[in-house]
Amino acid sequence: MTITEETTVGAVATEHPLATRVFARHGIDFCCGGGRPIREICEENDIPIEGLLAEIEAEISSEAASETRWDLEPMADLIEHILHTYHIPHREEMARIEAMARKVHTVHGDKDPRLKQILDTFANLKVGLEQHMLKEEEVLFPMILAGHGAMTTGPISVMEVEHDDAGKVLRRLRELADDYVPPEYACNTWRALWAGLADFERAVHEHIHLENNILHPRAQNE
Ligand SMILES: [Fe+2]
Ligand SMILES: [Fe+2]
Repeated sequence: MTITEETTVGAVATEHPLATRVFARHGIDFCCGGGRPIREICEENDIPIEGLLAEIEAEISSEAASETRWDLEPMADLIEHILHTYHIPHREEMARIEAMARKVHTVHGDKDPRLKQILDTFANLKVGLEQHMLKEEEVLFPMILAGHGAMTTGPISVMEVEHDDAGKVLRRLRELADDYVPPEYACNTWRALWAGLADFERAVHEHIHLENNILHPRAQNE
C-alpha cells in the first residue's frame, strides 16, 4: 500500500502496526476515528502533512518482519491475541492505576483538586471497561468464533458506541492531567500514575483499533 494524504488512519494502522507510534506521538485517534483520511486529521490538528507522512515512512521502514498483520491472521488467533494482550492485562493494570490514583489523591488531593476528578473518572472508566470486555468475552467473541457473522451487527454497534465513550473519557483524563506532564513537585507515585495512565491510554487505543478496524469488519464480511 502506498500511503498518501487520502489514506485513512485506520488503514495505515492496520497494514503498518508500527505507524501507530507516530499517531500516538501526535495524539491522533486511529481507533474510533480510524475511517478518516490523514489529510483531514492533519488539517484539524495543524500538523504538517508532509512531515507526518515522512515520520510514518521512517517508522515503518524499520518494521520488523515479525510485526503481525492481524488483518491476515485467522480470526481465532486475532481474538486470542486481543484477550491475552489487552483484556487480561487491562484488568490488572486498571486495578493498579486505581490504587495509585487513590493514594495520590489521599496524600496530595489538597494541592490539586483535579486529582479527585481523575480518581472518580478513572474509577468509572474501569467499571465500564470491565463490563464491556465481559460482554465481548461472553457474547460477541463466541458469536464470531461460531461463524454467526450476520448476527453480530447489533452487538458490534453497541461495542463501537462504548469504544467511542471510552475514547472520550481517555481524552478527558489527558486534559485533567495536563497531557501527563507531572508538576515539578509530584512525588514518585504521582509520576508513576501519570506514566501508567499514558501507557494505558496507548494500550486501549491499540485494543480498540484491532476491534473497530480489523475484527468487526472481518466478522461482518466473512
Ligand atoms: Fe476488547
Ligand atoms: Fe471493545
